[in-house]
Parts: sequence; C-alpha cells; structure tokens
Amino acid sequence: MSADIQLDKTAFAVREHAYAPYSSFKVGAAVRSVSGVVYSGCNVENIAYPEGTCAEAGAIAAMVAAGETRLVEVFVVADSKEPVSPCGGCRQKLAEFSGGDAVVTLANLDGVRVHMTMAELLPGAFGADHMDADHKDRD
Ligand code: THU
Repeated sequence: MSADIQLDKTAFAVREHAYAPYSSFKVGAAVRSVSGVVYSGCNVENIAYPEGTCAEAGAIAAMVAAGETRLVEVFVVADSKEPVSPCGGCRQKLAEFSGGDAVVTLANLDGVRVHMTMAELLPGAFGADHMDADHKDRD
C-alpha cells in the first residue's frame, strides 16, 4: 500500500531530527489525517527533563496547527529491541484525535513492525462518554 510507505518514510526521516541528548533515544512519529495529509514529529528533550516532549505529541501538534483534528493512521519508530511502545500520555493524546479503529504501527530500526488499532493500544480509553452530563454534579 503506497500510503503506508509515505507514512513510514516520514517517521524514519523525522526521527533523524530528534533532539535527544539526554536519553540518546531518538523517536519519530507520523500521523495521517482524515484528509490524507501526513504530519510528523520527533522527541524534543530539555535539560529540565520533564519539559521534554514526545514524538507523538509533536506530530499531533503539527496536525492541529495545520487546522486538522482527526487522524486515521499512526506510525512510531525508534531504535529499540522491540518496536517502540508509546507512553501512556501519548496513547491518550492520540486517542483524543482518533477513533478506536485508527491503524497504529510501531517499529524499530531492524525492520520489526507491530500493527494494531487505537482500541488495542489504549483499551478502555477515557473519553467523552465518561463525562455524561447525567452523572455530573450530583451533590
Ligand atoms: N519517547 C517518545 O518520543 N515517544 C514514545 O513513544 C516513547 C518515548 C521519548 C521521550 C524521551 O525523549 C525519550 O523517548 C526517552 O524516554
């Protein structure tokens, strides 16, 4: 599928720009919006460690900055033994802009790829349904 090739190439390419002097762990992420446009991001670390941002957050920020808020595909790559596993915070960030059927691919540099859906990446995701008005402000 040619669409896949673009997403993975974009993620591999942006990973090269990762700013990771503290962990030396470079991550690249690419998301495809519902309109078909691909947005990418890399991790950007900071000497004040908690201020660092993940690759997924960068890709999402690029998508939203371009005026889009729906993604249908995600690809994340890092130089890990097993395909990189997005952190909990990034799973929730991705869920904000996708449905459970969004296609997720996790990869490493050895050519290993794991495919799953967003629902599998973040089962039981907290969502708008949990904030049903009928269950708020009961006191
Ligand atoms: N990192 C990401 O960018 N995405 C992930 O899915 C996992 C972790 C980054 C954060 C930090 O810069 C480095 O990898 C090590 O945790």
